[in-house]
Amino acid sequence: MNVPHDHINPSPAINFNILPITSRIEKHHLFIGNCDTIELASSFGTPLYILDEVTIRQKCTEFLTEFQKRYPNTTVIYACKAFINRSMASLLKTEGLGLDVCSAGEINIAASVQFPSDKLYFHGNNKTVDELALALKENIGCIVVDNLYELALLSDIATKTKKKQDIMLRICPGIDPHTHKYTTTGTIDSKFGLHISTGQAEEAIIRAISAPNINLVGLHCHLGSPIFETAPFKQAIELMLEFAAQMKSKHNLRLLKFSPGGGFAIQYKADSPSLPIADYAEVITSTLIKKSYELNLDPPKLIIEPGRSIIGQAGVALYTVGSIKEIPEVRKYILVDGGMTDNIRHALYNAKYEAIVANKAGQEATERVTISGRACESGDILVQDITLPRISPGDIIAIPSCGAYCISMSSNYNMFFRPTVIVVNNGKARITQRRETIQDIMRRDVLMDTN
Ligand code: LLP
Repeated sequence: MNVPHDHINPSPAINFNILPITSRIEKHHLFIGNCDTIELASSFGTPLYILDEVTIRQKCTEFLTEFQKRYPNTTVIYACKAFINRSMASLLKTEGLGLDVCSAGEINIAASVQFPSDKLYFHGNNKTVDELALALKENIGCIVVDNLYELALLSDIATKTKKKQDIMLRICPGIDPHTHKYTTTGTIDSKFGLHISTGQAEEAIIRAISAPNINLVGLHCHLGSPIFETAPFKQAIELMLEFAAQMKSKHNLRLLKFSPGGGFAIQYKADSPSLPIADYAEVITSTLIKKSYELNLDPPKLIIEPGRSIIGQAGVALYTVGSIKEIPEVRKYILVDGGMTDNIRHALYNAKYEAIVANKAGQEATERVTISGRACESGDILVQDITLPRISPGDIIAIPSCGAYCISMSSNYNMFFRPTVIVVNNGKARITQRRETIQDIMRRDVLMDTN
């Protein structure tokens, strides 16, 4: 749901669909959660990641409502890889979501806030023995098994520890969701999942059903991310259910749970809108209901796995402008105090973002510039070729739609410190992750005797 902001600021230069829902412009300053971003930048320093609590909670509610009103038997689990820490896990717990965890790190974060373990789904294409053992020890609700090797490992560990583990099998359906090749997972040439076409998916079902300490409860697929269309979901659900029906008649497969994964897009660019959550909900649930009926399958529990679409719009990154370099007739570089070390998405996927000069918001845009970071890489670009108001050193640049896959993919390249992350709400700002220090950076070092 996009809240209309026209009553607050009619400036055509800023598109509020890409900003947190509490955003407004006042006296040319960008406000989020009733906090002046310019004051936030000066109190907390930059680079600074701002998360708007109202937006995160509203997206959780929207997912639950839009799916459950059409298909009551839906569980929404948040994909931690988009961004997770203990506060975020606690917040999701209070909102009633489950979690898609994909490592021992994410399992431990969930456990540290007593996240109900039956609401955890453990993903990953090469889980280690230690991670599988940890998952069993923590009584994780469901393990989404990716391949035959993992199935054998898990079966072995479950037998040794005398546990019976619920699993779903991750199936690779061979469907293209039309997104960047690095984030496409549902096509035939993918490292993820058991292919239907090679017979591995069927083989895994046979083995899982006969394994005494494994309880096969359903099937899963995830096509890729971000997916700007609904058609690939429809295609995937039809294909997956047809496969499930065949497996039911051949091997007596019980499809108690079914997941078409996550991957719901958000809007990054003013001129590239994304679909409302309701559109995905409508296609996914109507296809599931219709196809289950046609194939005479009992409608399974539906598991939905949004990451980006819960946290993406809530996040805005702030940077301070330092040096400005103009190469006449070539390019004007605006150099900021962060870059690919906190947001690698342009460098990795050629991802496009908007930018706002947060202390000159709504002023006339007059200059064509490229916003670059401070890492020792020419590819360290945040936004290439954007028209903005005239910029000077000390100005604050805000980049919207930065809640997902920025902090979670950040690095210490060049020994930079990872940024502070704050949560804003109703005029208050709280630190949820402090900026790194040199002690953090050196903590893992073991100083060797080099004499
Ligand atoms: N479920 C599974 C099994 C996944 O692998 C993922 C994301 C999701 C759900 C959640 O997808 P989402 O709803 O967040 O789109 N680093 C890339 C995105 C990689 C997504 C990996 N898997 C990016 O920055 O675009």
